[in-house]
Amino acid sequence: ELSPIDKAKFVAAKRSVDYVEDGMRVGLGTGSTAAWMVRCLGELVRDDGLKIKGVPTSTRTAELAREVGIEVISLDEAKWLDLTIDGADEFDANLNLIKGGGGALLQEKIVATASDQMVVIADVGKEVETLGAFPLPIEVIPFGWETTKSLVEEMLISMDVLGRDATLRMNGDRPFVTDEGNYILDLHLGRIGKANQLAMVLNQMPGVVENGLFIDICDVVIVGYGDGRVETRD
Ligand code: A5P
Repeated sequence: ELSPIDKAKFVAAKRSVDYVEDGMRVGLGTGSTAAWMVRCLGELVRDDGLKIKGVPTSTRTAELAREVGIEVISLDEAKWLDLTIDGADEFDANLNLIKGGGGALLQEKIVATASDQMVVIADVGKEVETLGAFPLPIEVIPFGWETTKSLVEEMLISMDVLGRDATLRMNGDRPFVTDEGNYILDLHLGRIGKANQLAMVLNQMPGVVENGLFIDICDVVIVGYGDGRVETRD
């Protein structure tokens, strides 16, 4: 028996594979919700003979995809994708997102941007009026990261969005390291008024590789509920 939250994630994931058609090149997201989707796709490949090629957004997802029998190719082999299905940490009424709770935001954004369509799957707990309660992850180069952190904090203070200091994401007693060998800073903002502007300003700072704001990238959000209901926002 699944807990209500897992059930919500599962039913959203299950619905999302309806978007996948024979012959598609599909971006495979990262996280617990996306993992359900990868398993559902694997089942269709195995049992229904669905023919797809998958482009994973993390080493974790690549492993799972292979395990369930999905043919995995790189983004450069695929060049362009028909569809990406991924989870999110927050989504708002405009289908803008915060992603990166799992630390895979860089590959996730590259893959989603290279797709004709991005479908997000999420439990209803991820729905917010204003983005920002979930700490916004940014991926930074390890070189000079403390200096980068200070510059980012100063900039956030000047934009009047910083709640408290940015924190270096840890993995035990060491910094968490992304698939690209970078660090993650989590920005505690509380409320992001001008998400578009913030996303652009962050990416202009030296040392910042990418931020977890997905603005105008997502086309559809499939929302799952604990009782098994599913709603689609587009
Ligand atoms: C991974 O880097 C994230 O962007 C995930 O998509 C996000 O954290 C959602 O994860 P869950 O599906 O586990 O909540």
